[in-house]
Parts: sequence; structure tokens; C-alpha cells
Amino acid sequence: MRTQVGIIGAGPAGLFLARLLQLAGIDSVVLENRGREYVEKRVRAGILEQGTVDVLREIGVGERMNREGIEHAGTQLRFDGETHHIDFQELTGRKVMVYGQQEVVKDLIAQRIADDLPLHFSVSEVELHDLAGTTPRITYTDADGSPQSLECDYIAGCDGFHGVSRSFIPDGHLTAYDRTYPFAWFGILANARPSSKELIYTHSPHGFALHSLRSDHVVRNYLQVSPGFDPATMSDEQIWDEFDRRMATADGTFAINRGEITEKLVSTMRSWVITPMRYERLLLAGDAAHIVPPTGAKGMNLAVADVVVLAEGITRALQSGDESGLDSYSDVVLRRVWRCEHFSWWMTSMLHRFPPDHPEGDDFGLQMQLSQLRYVTTSEAAMRSLAENYVGLPLDYFR
Ligand code: FAD
Ligand code: DHB
Repeated sequence: MRTQVGIIGAGPAGLFLARLLQLAGIDSVVLENRGREYVEKRVRAGILEQGTVDVLREIGVGERMNREGIEHAGTQLRFDGETHHIDFQELTGRKVMVYGQQEVVKDLIAQRIADDLPLHFSVSEVELHDLAGTTPRITYTDADGSPQSLECDYIAGCDGFHGVSRSFIPDGHLTAYDRTYPFAWFGILANARPSSKELIYTHSPHGFALHSLRSDHVVRNYLQVSPGFDPATMSDEQIWDEFDRRMATADGTFAINRGEITEKLVSTMRSWVITPMRYERLLLAGDAAHIVPPTGAKGMNLAVADVVVLAEGITRALQSGDESGLDSYSDVVLRRVWRCEHFSWWMTSMLHRFPPDHPEGDDFGLQMQLSQLRYVTTSEAAMRSLAENYVGLPLDYFR
């Protein structure tokens, strides 16, 4: 078998890339090691930057998001029991969209299948070959257990943090930058009415809490927990009590709306970047090359921003033999990656309680957080800086 671009991974990076290439007249084959149902049900991100929303509309897959997504023109920061509003619309003229990542993934998969284009689920034993030659190859076992070989012009490694693509880059070629955090997020999905029209990011003496939502009857909430946290150690009632304890307001009026908890998931927090994001004919994109702690809601948006640049570079290379867009790909996208790495690290550091044995876990560290929180909720300049990073710098900002 032969295609122009072999895409490993049917997450946001791989599926957006496949659609962008299709619209540019480039053939691709998408290979995914999980089943369709698993990929479509995997609950993850919920906040789309304006730039991501624009791309989804431009590629003709935004119809359901336009109907079911919920535009948010601002967010709330809560600390010391007081709630502060950050008005994105007024400060930046831009908004974000609440629309689940798995809904975006579902819409892109449905489009690909409707267009009758190759997207193979449940493949295994994916291996990359001849990356430094002109005809790199992917071998894999298909869902029926038959071995397959796919020749390509380029291979896009869009297979996330746990993917295999980057392991085929020879030793010594990549530099990794890494930071782990002494806490994790415990996320729940519940059938409950939202307790607020906007997200609430809460700093409290008992740790960080985030109230988010998916619709007017489904909420998505997160608690800061220790990295080894086991969800089985907390009853549902204890979980809701903990949200009330962390999110309590000084006037005593806030109570979280409770409901049936339908999903529980613990995610670790990490900042990690590898450079460069290209090795010969292999191009990496999204979580395969960088991850951020979720506090800034950046991960999926970064994956989309990567593949917008990548699709242009691949198209130019294949249509006019001009590889300059691929030569600069890594440097160009890493400018946005590092901005988002900084923003996510900064939001995480400002909002979470560090354990007492951590260098930031003393009273001085706490006063630094509170001072920063007061500043970003009172200075218009500081508020605008937070807002422009949160809604996402325009897609052409780093070009
Ligand atoms: P992935 O979504 O990981 O996709 C990679 C795909 O490759 C997967 O389908 C995987 O099954 C497949 N794969 C892996 N290995 C192989 C293989 N060997 N062969 C074939 N296929 C393979 N981001 C935001 O922008 N906003 C948010 O609000 C937000 N909140 C988050 C909350 C949580 C709790 C978590 C965990 C993440 C959050 N993120 C958020 C991050 C976001 O979910 C990721 O950054 C995003 O999924 C990255 O997309 P991707 O396509 O690069 O990788
Ligand atoms: C959600 C996730 C985030 O990481 C975040 O910062 C805000 C909201 C969510 O899943 O809704």
C-alpha cells in the first residue's frame, strides 16, 4: 500500500491533520491502535480556544459544535473565599468554547468515514522504517491480525505522549525538557446542573478545585490530589463535600450542585517538551512532542495549532517540492509551545497548594500565590495578559 502521508494516531492532532490535508488535495492514511468506541468515549479536554473553533469551522466540521458548544466570554478566579471575574471578551475581543474533546474527535471521525477515506482502528505493532530515505514505511498489524506495510512520502507522529513514533528517532537527536509537579488532578463527570455560568478556578487552603461543565445538565469538576491518589478511598458524598469545602465563599452562600457521578479519572501533571519536532521524514505533532499540566486548558489547542502549520508545510513540499515549511516547522511551532508551557506552568503554580516539604510549600510561597492572584484580578494589564493567553494568541501570532 502507498499513501502520501501516513498519520499515526486518531486523536485531535491526527484527525485535524488528515482533514486539513484532504482539503489541500493530499492523500493520507490514519492508523489508530484503539477501537473507535474507545477513542470517541475518552473524556479529556473541554475548552477550545477561539483559534481552534475557527479552524473547526473553516474545515467544515463545526456544525454540531455551533449548535451544542457553549461560548464562554469570561472565567472566574476564587481565592480567600472571594470570586473575581475575568472578562475575556472585554479584555481581548475573543472568547472560548466549551465543547468536549471527544465530541470534536467524534465529528472528525464521522466526516472521515462519510468521505470514505482510510482510517484504521485497532491496529497493533506499529513500526516506522527508512525515515531518512525518500520512501519511509510503516508496518503494522491490522484489526484482522494481518501484517501490513504502508509506503509514504512523510509520516506524521500524532500518537500522543504514550505513542511509539518518537522512539524510532535515533538516540542523541532529541533534547527533552521536563518538569513534574507534586500533585495530580482527580476529575469527575457528573449528571448535575452547573453551579455557575462560568468556570471557577479555586485556590484554597485545602488545595485547588475547578468547576467546569459540558452542558446544562453535565458538569466536569477537578480536585487537586496527591500523585498516588486512589479514587476508591473517597465516597461520592465525600467528593462533593470536598468541593464545598474548597470552593466555599466568605459569605457562605456557595454550594456545589450535586448529582450522579458517572466517571472518575486521575491525571498526572507534567510539563514536557522535546526538540526538534522533526527527524528527516518523520514529523511529530501534539502530545507526542509536548505536554502541559491541564490548568491552562492548552493541550488540545496546541495540538491543533501544530498541525495547521504542519499541513501547510507538507502541502508545499508535496505540491511544489519546497521543503522550507517543513525545515522551519519545529522552530515555528515551538514558539507557541513554549508560550503555552509557560502559561500552564504559571497557572498551575499560582493555583495549587504545594506540599510542605516542597520548596514552594512554605508560607512565603503561599503569600507569593495570593499576591499574584490579587494582582491578576485587580490590574487590568495583568488581567489582560491572563485573558489573552487563556483565549489563545492568534494562530498567525508566532509565524
Ligand atoms: P492524543 O489525544 O493522546 O491522541 C493520540 C492518539 O494516538 C490516541 O488516539 C492514541 O490511542 C493513539 N496512539 C497511541 N499510540 C499509538 C500507536 N502505537 N499506534 C497508533 N495509534 C496510537 N487540552 C485542552 O486544550 N483543553 C483542556 O481543557 C484540556 N483539559 C484536559 C484535561 C485532562 C484531564 C487531560 C488528561 C487532558 C486535557 N487536555 C486539555 C489535554 C488534551 O486532552 C491533549 O493535549 C490532547 O488529547 C492532545 O491531542 P493529540 O492528538 O496530540 O494526542
Ligand atoms: C476543563 C479542563 C481544563 O484543563 C481546564 O483548564 C478547564 C476545563 C474541562 O475539562 O472542562
